[in-house]
Amino acid sequence: MDLSTNYIGLNLKNPIVPSASPLSESVDKVKQLEDAGASAVVVYSLFEEQITHESGELDHYLNYGTESYAEAISYFPEPEEFNLGPFEYLDHIANLKKAVDIPVIGSLNGVSNGGWAKYAKNIQDAGADALELNIYYIPTDTNLTSTEIENMYIDTLKAVKQNVTIPVSIKLSPFFTSMPNVARSLDDAGADGLVLFNRFYQPDFDLEKLEVVPNLQLSTQWEMRLPLRWIAILYSHVKANLAATSGIHNYEDVLKIMMAGGDVAMMASELLENGVGRISEILKRMQKWMEQHEYDSIELMKGSMSQKSVTEPAAFERANYMKILQSYKKL
Ligand SMILES: Cc1cc2nc3c(=O)[nH]c(=O)nc-3n(C[C@H](O)[C@H](O)[C@H](O)COP(=O)(O)O)c2cc1C
Repeated sequence: MDLSTNYIGLNLKNPIVPSASPLSESVDKVKQLEDAGASAVVVYSLFEEQITHESGELDHYLNYGTESYAEAISYFPEPEEFNLGPFEYLDHIANLKKAVDIPVIGSLNGVSNGGWAKYAKNIQDAGADALELNIYYIPTDTNLTSTEIENMYIDTLKAVKQNVTIPVSIKLSPFFTSMPNVARSLDDAGADGLVLFNRFYQPDFDLEKLEVVPNLQLSTQWEMRLPLRWIAILYSHVKANLAATSGIHNYEDVLKIMMAGGDVAMMASELLENGVGRISEILKRMQKWMEQHEYDSIELMKGSMSQKSVTEPAAFERANYMKILQSYKKL
């Protein structure tokens, strides 16, 4: 049974990659991921704000139309509240590379093409096999157009790409008017992989304290329907490899992502909640399913349920929408 897959130029022994999270905060934890069968690891992100507190470019996007950079910077956690600073992050990557054989993917999280993007080169020099660029940005200014935002994504990607020779994937939000067009623009700008999607943590209100409460809820399986759909739509329309993240919790989820056309299935919540041993269980169950259904390899499975051969994908989506609404009546 051949579970191998190629993702952004990395030959991986299987498609399960732990995504950026505290799962990679220590060398020991990453060794455990490797022992459990993870085929690569994405290290938690280093944030643009950690690299520079004085980036004019960052200021431009975070305070669009205002003069309040000083106030904006006060919203961020103090540097000591982050796991590690920029230099320690490089040491961590170098230590991981010494300790494990699986590819180590660094992660940079930012929203501008300012000087911080040069830091990508440091991550490469520390030994990272690839880099994931996470762009997490919520537009709040009514003057900011979708084109400006999309250009920000493209410029940030280009700025990072310019500084490195290792493959670069980009982790995206699902909230674009035309996801296929954005995907193609990023493809044209040189993205080696698209990581779909960032989860948008919706803060809650504390009614007694009248405060915004940032309490993180781990994902549920329902959430994987979002990457599942978009991977099925994008498969074969972009050169970039496709990674799914959000809501992948069991072997069936991984198989579905492969059939939609994904190259890797990334996991965080399931492993944080139920332990890294879940990776080996999921790999075993996948193999069993493939044996029973006579699939020799993951490569053969990839894209088999995508929309590649649907002649009118937009009509297909509308028809599906109607069927879904009707399916409830039939219950
Ligand atoms: C505690 C925690 C920390 C995370 N930190 C990062 C991070 O540093 N960078 C990043 O790109 N994603 C981060 N994520 C998002 C995960 O990589 C992943 O995309 C998301 O949790 C959805 O996948 P899941 O449903 O498997 O959890 C974090 C998630 C969790 C739960």
